[in-house]
Amino acid sequence: MKVKFLGHAAFRLESDNFKALIDPFLKHNPLYIDDPTDTEGITHIFITHGHNDHVGDSIEIAKKCGSIIICNAEIGNILSSKSKGLNIHSMHIGGTYDFPFGRVKMTHSIHGSSYFDGEKSIYAGTPGGFLITINGFTLFHAGDTALTYDFKLLERENIDLAILPIGGNYTMDINDALIAVDFIKPKHVVPIHYNTFKLIQADPLEFTSQLPKNMAIILSSGESIDSTKL
Ligand code: NI
Ligand code: MN
Repeated sequence: MKVKFLGHAAFRLESDNFKALIDPFLKHNPLYIDDPTDTEGITHIFITHGHNDHVGDSIEIAKKCGSIIICNAEIGNILSSKSKGLNIHSMHIGGTYDFPFGRVKMTHSIHGSSYFDGEKSIYAGTPGGFLITINGFTLFHAGDTALTYDFKLLERENIDLAILPIGGNYTMDINDALIAVDFIKPKHVVPIHYNTFKLIQADPLEFTSQLPKNMAIILSSGESIDSTKL
C-alpha cells in the first residue's frame, strides 16, 4: 500500500483497486500541496469525525469520483442531507466490516464531533479513528484524540503504522503521544495534526528523537511511503 501524507490529518492510500482518502481537508488546508491526481479515481473516503478540518472536501470529491464515504452514522446522515445520492457506508465505534479491499474497524477517540455548516454546529456523533487492514498490513489513523487508556487495547491489533496527532491544544501533545505509542506498540508511527495552525505548533523531531530508532517516520506534506518497504 502506498501511503501519501497530504498535510494536517489528510492521507491518500493506494493499493490494488483501492484509492482512498482519509480526512480529505485539502482546499483550505494551508499545508496541502496541490496535486490534481490526489483526488482522481477515489474509491473510498474515510472521515474520522465531523470537524471541518477532517470532513474537508469529502462531498465534492465523492460526487466527482462516486466514492464510498466511510464514516459514523451521524456524519452519514448529515452528508446525505447536504447532498443527495452520495454513496455512504455508515459504521460506528467498535464496528468491523470486511470490504472487498480489506478490513476496517472504527475505534473511538476522546474528542468532540460536530459539523459546522456555516451557520450552526450539527451533532456529528462520537469521534473515531480507523484500523484499516489490507494484505496483512494494518494502518491506524487515530483521528483527533486525547491520550486514552483505551489505546492499550490496540496493542492486540498488531499495528504496522500508527498515525497519531502530536500538535496539542485540540489533541494529544508530544508527551501524551509518546505514552500512546507505548500503549499501542506499533511497528512505525507517523506524527500528524501539527504546525497547520498557530495553536498546534510542535517540533516533530522532539517526538521522534524520544522513540526507538527507525520507529518514527516524519512525512512532509506531499511525501509518500510504501508499506511493503517498511
Ligand atoms: Ni477535531
Ligand atoms: Mn482536527
